[in-house]
Amino acid sequence: HPPNFQMEESPGLRRANCRAKGGAPGFKVAILGASGGIGQPLALLMKINPLVSVLHLYDVVNTPGVTADISHMDTGAVVRGFLGQQQLEEALAGMDLVIIPAGVPRKPGMTRDDLFNINAGIVRTLCEGIAKSCPKAIVNLISNPVNSTVPIAAEVFKRTGTYDPKRLLGVTMLDVVRANTFVAEVLGLDPREVDVPVVGGHAGVTILPLLSQAKAGAGSATLSMAYAAVKFADACLRGMRGDAGIVECAFVSSQVTELPFFASKVRLGRTGAEEVLPLGPLNEYERVGLEKAKKELAESIQKGVSFIKK
Ligand code: NAD
Ligand code: LMR
Repeated sequence: HPPNFQMEESPGLRRANCRAKGGAPGFKVAILGASGGIGQPLALLMKINPLVSVLHLYDVVNTPGVTADISHMDTGAVVRGFLGQQQLEEALAGMDLVIIPAGVPRKPGMTRDDLFNINAGIVRTLCEGIAKSCPKAIVNLISNPVNSTVPIAAEVFKRTGTYDPKRLLGVTMLDVVRANTFVAEVLGLDPREVDVPVVGGHAGVTILPLLSQAKAGAGSATLSMAYAAVKFADACLRGMRGDAGIVECAFVSSQVTELPFFASKVRLGRTGAEEVLPLGPLNEYERVGLEKAKKELAESIQKGVSFIKK
């Protein structure tokens, strides 16, 4: 997407107030978990996104160094760092988009659900902060297990009277990015020209179609996830700016199946996921996969809801 921002005349104001063509302001974006394996490259990529005017980097460790480093990049966005829970409210104040890659990643042999016990509490605390400081922000939730952390976030927002299903999006873009890459490889195509919808959720059999491949090494994906997160955040920002026809897959509040949350194509607009699109025709293999996916998804969703309700 070609940068279409023009700088203000006043040098003092120009970085913070860069304006999109047509007068729309640049967006204020916070990354929670900004010092991590995903958070750092994500911060780097958001710093070069012309739709971003202010970038807040929040974590419980290392944000002063990461912020100093990122802030030296000679791109428009103004970068500010925030360290520890006492600075969470300040980090979130006035944000338009909040991206959350905070929490522990899994190690070999673990399932994403094994992360529930630690990450559920982290996501709850961060969402309480969002409800307080920027209840109208669009939230891109990356922390695993996404199939449960999205329902957790929804329950926190319901409790605080700030829930708007359109504004809460679980990020499943990495599944789409991977599927596009693998399919392009097999078919000998340019991956930028491939668009594979991946529906269901973001764990094991809930990822449909099942095009999984483990990353070699000890950790979970960080660099490709940062890329996927930026691809998704950029789509959200273009929707928020008013661009038409922005459609991406995400794990959202949904009536596509009988489950309360489901990943499928959504149309992104000024207020978030403005339309959840139907699945379209499925073949026999996909129909069988869908039933398996729904069974596991139902349990993960219920686990997230119960965590807040109990
Ligand atoms: P990481 O350990 O490298 O980074 C996580 C960061 O979160 C750390 O800097 C840590 O200090 C911070 N953090 C911990 N508790 C926090 C809190 N209370 N408030 C703010 N920050 C806090 O992990 P990573 O590799 O960046 O992965 C982060 C999460 O993203 C994991 O849960 C991982 O499973 C998930 N993930 C999701 C997808 C997806 O497709 N949705 C893909 C890859 C990874
Ligand atoms: C991924 O799909 O790479 C992430 O959800 C991280 C993980 O635990 O696999």
